[in-house]
Amino acid sequence: MKQDMKANIPSPGHPEVEAYLADGYERVVGMSSRFAAAICARLLRLQTEEGVAGPIAEIGAFEGRFFIALAHALEPGEIGLALDIFAWPDPGVEQRFEANCARHGIGPERRRTIKGDAGMMAPSDLLAHAGGERLRFIHIDGEHSRSALSKDLALATACLSEGGLIVLDDMLHPGYPTLMVAVQAYLEANPDIVPLCVIDRETIVGATKFVLCQRAWFERYEARLLEIFKDWIWPLGADFEPHWCLVLSQDTRLAEIV
Ligand SMILES: C[S@@+](CC[C@H](N)C(=O)[O-])C[C@H]1O[C@@H](n2cnc3c(N)ncnc32)[C@H](O)[C@@H]1O
Repeated sequence: MKQDMKANIPSPGHPEVEAYLADGYERVVGMSSRFAAAICARLLRLQTEEGVAGPIAEIGAFEGRFFIALAHALEPGEIGLALDIFAWPDPGVEQRFEANCARHGIGPERRRTIKGDAGMMAPSDLLAHAGGERLRFIHIDGEHSRSALSKDLALATACLSEGGLIVLDDMLHPGYPTLMVAVQAYLEANPDIVPLCVIDRETIVGATKFVLCQRAWFERYEARLLEIFKDWIWPLGADFEPHWCLVLSQDTRLAEIV
């Protein structure tokens, strides 16, 4: 049975995330979908179940909509790094980020705000913000250009822990067609990293995300995703030539051909 038939989203696996998604998420200005937030929170829970622990990060935290959902899924002692240039659309965005975190229950002890350009950041800088620990989950939602995404991917890969996940926002978005070119080049250059699943778009603003994992973790994670998200699996899957992965969607229909 689906956990939330009305909204058609899976259980995020954490009561705090569920409460925030039900009442809060839509009140924080931002872009990612609730469907993707629920899935990513559940993926964080899955990592915990598999013994993967540690800090998380978002590149492009903006006003905190998605970051707050992720931070509510942290285990005790874990922290979230929120990285952004905090200059767009105006300098007040950083204060709004801080206020939103406070309003929605993410205290300063559970997070670090990092104002800066991800493209200029060395892995050692990012890891220093995490107290020297590698990151178990990195959501990349910063500058939407091919070169910026390539740099963000290199940074994330260098900081990733064993069993870590990299999530890419705005994949296959009609406004950013060249991002896929950067992803393809990255996958070809990094054969140890593979797509774990595609999270289908909810709207043009709540766009598709790709979840990447280490190849050595793919089968273990995919077996769990098949159970956890069984009501949201689009039957045909995604063909990354030659790698295949699951597509998680709110619309699991196939084309009617007869
Ligand atoms: C689409 S918004 C992110 C939305 C957010 N993740 C949410 O859940 O609502 C993109 C963000 O990336 C930030 N950004 C753009 N270029 C960046 C860079 N080079 N380094 C860090 N952040 C950047 C922008 O300031 C903006 O806040």
